Amino acid sequence: MRRKIIAGNWKMNGSLDFMQDFMADFKKVAAEKALLDASNLQIILSPPSVFLHKMKLLVSESNIDIAAQNVSSYESGAYTGEVSSSMLLDTGCKWCLVGHSERRTLFSETDNEIVEKVEQLLKNNIQPILCVGETLKERENGQANTVVEHQVEAVFGYFDEQALSNLVVAYEPVWAIGTGKTASPEQAQEMHKNIRSRVAEHSSSLAESLSILYGGSVNASNAQSLFAQKDIDGGLVGGASLKVDEFSLICEQVINF
Ligand code: PGA
Repeated sequence: MRRKIIAGNWKMNGSLDFMQDFMADFKKVAAEKALLDASNLQIILSPPSVFLHKMKLLVSESNIDIAAQNVSSYESGAYTGEVSSSMLLDTGCKWCLVGHSERRTLFSETDNEIVEKVEQLLKNNIQPILCVGETLKERENGQANTVVEHQVEAVFGYFDEQALSNLVVAYEPVWAIGTGKTASPEQAQEMHKNIRSRVAEHSSSLAESLSILYGGSVNASNAQSLFAQKDIDGGLVGGASLKVDEFSLICEQVINF
């Protein structure tokens, strides 16, 4: 059985006070709903990197993991402003997003850099959550599958099976991120199935065990129909992960499948 994962990507939002209040409330609701006892559910929260250390303290004595939103492609040295993979490990990070569309678009991140970042993370036993997804224009031009396959292949074609067994993929159609427009469950399922078939060309057991998350305007109302799809193993949640009630309802819904 594949692991179910709900990861909350706070992006550049929040503050120390916000995080403290959020965690106090979330831990209470999660205990009431028995979210933290569900053996097949991994909850991950990803605040801005400057808050990771504090977040690690706040999630202590729970099985919530913390994730970074980005990592340097370099190991150490004169790279002002960068945060290395070993530093993320020091803060207690077990996960890190890589190749989020906002990084690909706004910060011109390339597939090559993404491979380097994944390499840095794997060296420090941090599990990469590889984000892939097509733009609206690419979908309208019938290129969605080609674009996503290319992004997947850039990483899955580079590492060996053992390394790749540490990865999680998040399919996030760019047109659905922060827009309130979600892919239909059928559209999402079709792409998740394609991604899994593509990975199966490298290894069928790897494809079978790979958790593929859906991201893009996931909320408490649409989560259930998305999570009911055979190849959707959870969600990467942006805006809705900043609201305790909404985020806990999303976590609750994935347990049912
Ligand atoms: P959203 O963001 O849920 O606000 O659309 C998802 C993401 O960017 O990871």
